[in-house]
Amino acid sequence: MFFNKKTDAVKKEYFSQEWMDEWLANIKKSDEYKKKGKDWNSPVVIQFKPLPDRFSDENLLGIYLDLQYGECHDMRYANQEYVDKADVVLSADEKTWIRMIEERIDPIMMLMKGNLKVKKGSLVMLATHRQAAAALLQTCPAYTDAPSSKELKKSLKEPPAVRKEHSKFVSTGRGINFDSFPMQLFEKSKKFGIWNPSDIDLTKDKEHWASFTDEEKTIIIHLSSLFMAGEEAVTLDLLPLIQTISKEGRVEEEIYLTSFLWEEAKHTEFFARFVHEVIAGDPDFESFHKPFYKKLFYQKLPFYLNTLYTDTSPLAQLKASGTYNMIVEGTLAETGYEAYSKMLSEHNMLPGLLEGIKLLKQDESRHIAYGLYLINRILDEHPEHKFTFENHLEELLTDATNIINELFEPYDVVPFGLEKEWFLDYAIKQFQHRMAKIGL
Ligand SMILES: [Fe+2]
Ligand SMILES: [Fe+2]
Repeated sequence: MFFNKKTDAVKKEYFSQEWMDEWLANIKKSDEYKKKGKDWNSPVVIQFKPLPDRFSDENLLGIYLDLQYGECHDMRYANQEYVDKADVVLSADEKTWIRMIEERIDPIMMLMKGNLKVKKGSLVMLATHRQAAAALLQTCPAYTDAPSSKELKKSLKEPPAVRKEHSKFVSTGRGINFDSFPMQLFEKSKKFGIWNPSDIDLTKDKEHWASFTDEEKTIIIHLSSLFMAGEEAVTLDLLPLIQTISKEGRVEEEIYLTSFLWEEAKHTEFFARFVHEVIAGDPDFESFHKPFYKKLFYQKLPFYLNTLYTDTSPLAQLKASGTYNMIVEGTLAETGYEAYSKMLSEHNMLPGLLEGIKLLKQDESRHIAYGLYLINRILDEHPEHKFTFENHLEELLTDATNIINELFEPYDVVPFGLEKEWFLDYAIKQFQHRMAKIGL
């Protein structure tokens, strides 16, 4: 007997034999899992680290699921033999597993955030089966009456402050705080953010372009189309945040934000100029904007930022900055620009584009730093929003990883050696790094 049950006749126990029987029966009944899990055929072990006190057999390491093409052929307690047999071993403590089951938290998200560890298998491979993992979790018996995370997502709305007159000024009152983080960023912007896109020489880029194959041209046009619209979107959608900060009288932050918007405008100008001068013909850029890209850049980014015109509550600000600074800039743009500049320098090509991207990356690092500062400031004052904010970011990270999948979909082999796994891995690392910086 692996497991000592508590003598609790009413409350069912997680990870008991009865619980496993129920789970197995649920999987068999689930059309959703049959559909979403049809491409998954690897046995998985759910491992407990440390082993719960209730388990009496120390040879027991977790639960083994023989998952094959939308079916589960076997579910049992796993000893070392079954761990060896499994292709994937995921490890977490008992509390984390239960939280994931009860709140139906996306398992891939838990992996990305490091709450769940991959002991065997590959994170990137698991990320490509995200929907199968989520559908499997839905079948897992949850013994709770607690509200789901979605039900807990309630926005606290406060009417926006309307300023019709000034009662005082910072400059003539307490004085500008030159040591504050936003003023330090502003100082850097004045030093490093003053580059002029028009000064970048694109002569060599034009020569290189003429020598590219059609496939090579296509990937450059594809990436450019994503960056062009992305930079324009962040230029268009930043104003409501600046206005919100201004209304709160945070003059140091507003001073910095003036350079932020100017830099985004230059990024938009830079790509437009590159495309205009180097990419010959009239490519259909928008044909590269696929559904997930459109969902984030055409809908969610403007939605969360423009919500600030009517709702300037701390939670609305968190959602706006989380979407803009954490996901669009901190995860997608960082990954895209890193990959792009790596590709250009490794192949020694398009030196003008490379120079612009290097300068633009420096600007972006300040933007992200400001976003993290803003998020930390709000979360310090309103820790009650942590949970909702975390869920917001998790949802958007799913969109971001889907945008990466979408980017690689049309290509069997991507020119210039670009790899989806590299993109996903880098994006996940960036996200984890930012999450750590805001204490999530
Ligand atoms: Fe930018
Ligand atoms: Fe930016």
